[in-house]
Amino acid sequence: MQLLNQDLNQKIQEIEDQHSSGVYAKKPIALVRGKGTRVWDANGREYLDCSTGMGVALLGHSNEYVVRAITEQAQKLLTCPDGHFYNDARAGLIEKLMEVAPKSLNRIFLCNTGTEAVEAALKFARAFTGKPGIIATMRSFHGRTLGALSVTWNPKYREPFEPLLPKTSFVPYGNLEKLEAAITDETAAIILEPVQGESGVHVPPPGYLSAVRKLCSDKGILLILDEIQTGFGRTGKFFACEHSSIEPDIMCISKAMGGGVPIGAILTRDEIQLDKAQHGSTFGGNPLACAAARAAITYIQEKNLLSKARENGAYFLEKLKTFEGKGPVREARGLGLMLGLELKEKSAPYLMKLIDHGILALSAGPTVIRFLPPLEITRGEIDQVIQALQPVLNS
Ligand SMILES: Cc1ncc(COP(=O)(O)O)c(C=O)c1O
Repeated sequence: MQLLNQDLNQKIQEIEDQHSSGVYAKKPIALVRGKGTRVWDANGREYLDCSTGMGVALLGHSNEYVVRAITEQAQKLLTCPDGHFYNDARAGLIEKLMEVAPKSLNRIFLCNTGTEAVEAALKFARAFTGKPGIIATMRSFHGRTLGALSVTWNPKYREPFEPLLPKTSFVPYGNLEKLEAAITDETAAIILEPVQGESGVHVPPPGYLSAVRKLCSDKGILLILDEIQTGFGRTGKFFACEHSSIEPDIMCISKAMGGGVPIGAILTRDEIQLDKAQHGSTFGGNPLACAAARAAITYIQEKNLLSKARENGAYFLEKLKTFEGKGPVREARGLGLMLGLELKEKSAPYLMKLIDHGILALSAGPTVIRFLPPLEITRGEIDQVIQALQPVLNS
C-alpha cells in the first residue's frame, strides 16, 4: 500500500470505508503507533488513550514485557493446536494464570476473544448441568456471537438475530428477589458482569454479588462471572470478584489478558469438564498468544499494578465527581480504573470534542463517557483529562 497523500489519516479511512462491512461507526482518525498511555495518528498527532482498544491495552501500548515475549516466541513456534499437542508456552501461561486465578478455578479452556469465552461458558454450563436455562441481567453485554448475544440485553443488538437460544431470561442487575424468582428447574446458570461495562459502568450494590453466590450454591445452579472487561487489575483487584470475596463456578476472561494480543479463556471448577471433542478451537491456546498473556500477568505482578489501579482510580473518580450536577453531567461512578461519567444527554458529541483536546475515551450506553485508561496512567495525565473535560463539558 502506497500512502503518499499528505493527509494519511484521510487516505487510510477512505480505503477502509470503501470495503468495510459497515458495522462499525469509527472515529475519524487512523492510529498507527502506541507506547504506554499514548497513541499517535497517521499524521503524527499524539493522544492520551483512555479507551485502550476497548480496555485491551491495560498495560499500556506495546508493553515491553509483551513485545519481548512475542518476539522471542515468534522465532520459536507460532502454531501448535491445543487440540493436538502440548506446548511449553501454553504450559507456562497456565502455570502463571493459576498463581492469580481464584483458587477453586483450576481448569482452563483457551480461546481467542471474549465472545468465544462466553460461548464456552454457556456450553460447559449446559452440558455439565444437563439443563438449558440461563439467566442474564438487564443492561448486560456478553458478546456478539449467537450464544453470547442470547444473554446480551440491548434489544438493538439482539432482536435482528432472533430466535436466539431458548430458555434465557433477563432480570434487573442488583435485584436478588427478581433473580431468585426467575430460577426454575431448568436453570443451568446465571451469568453476570461483576461491574457492567458496556451499558454504562454500573457497580453492583454492596452485598449483591456475595448474595448471588450464596443463592447459586443454595439452589444448585452455576455462577458464571464475565470478567472480560473487569479482569487483570482493571478494578484494582486481579479479578473484580475479589472485591466481594467470592469465587464463581466459571469465569470468562479476555481483553487485557494478552497485553494486546487476542486471547480469551474460561476458568472452571475442577469437576466442570466436557467430554473429548465436545468443544474446541484451532487458534485457542496458540503459543504466541500464550507467551503474550504470560508476560502480561508477570508485568502486572512485578510492577505492583493493582495498587496503582486502586490509588489512581480513586484519584480519577474523585476528580470526575467534581463535575457531578454541573452542566450536562449527572453522575460519576466506577471501580478502580473502570470509570464512567453519566450525562443527561448523548455522550457521542462529547467524545468527539475530547478527541480535539487529544483525549481518547469510550461511550458506554448512549449517555456515558467511559474511561478505561492503562493502569500506569499518572496523576499528571489524569489531571490532563480533567482539564480537557472542563471546556468540553461547558461547550
Ligand atoms: C463484559 C464483556 N463480555 C464480553 C465481551 C465480548 O468480547 P469480544 O468483543 O472480545 O468478543 C465484551 C466486550 O466488550 C465485554 O465487555
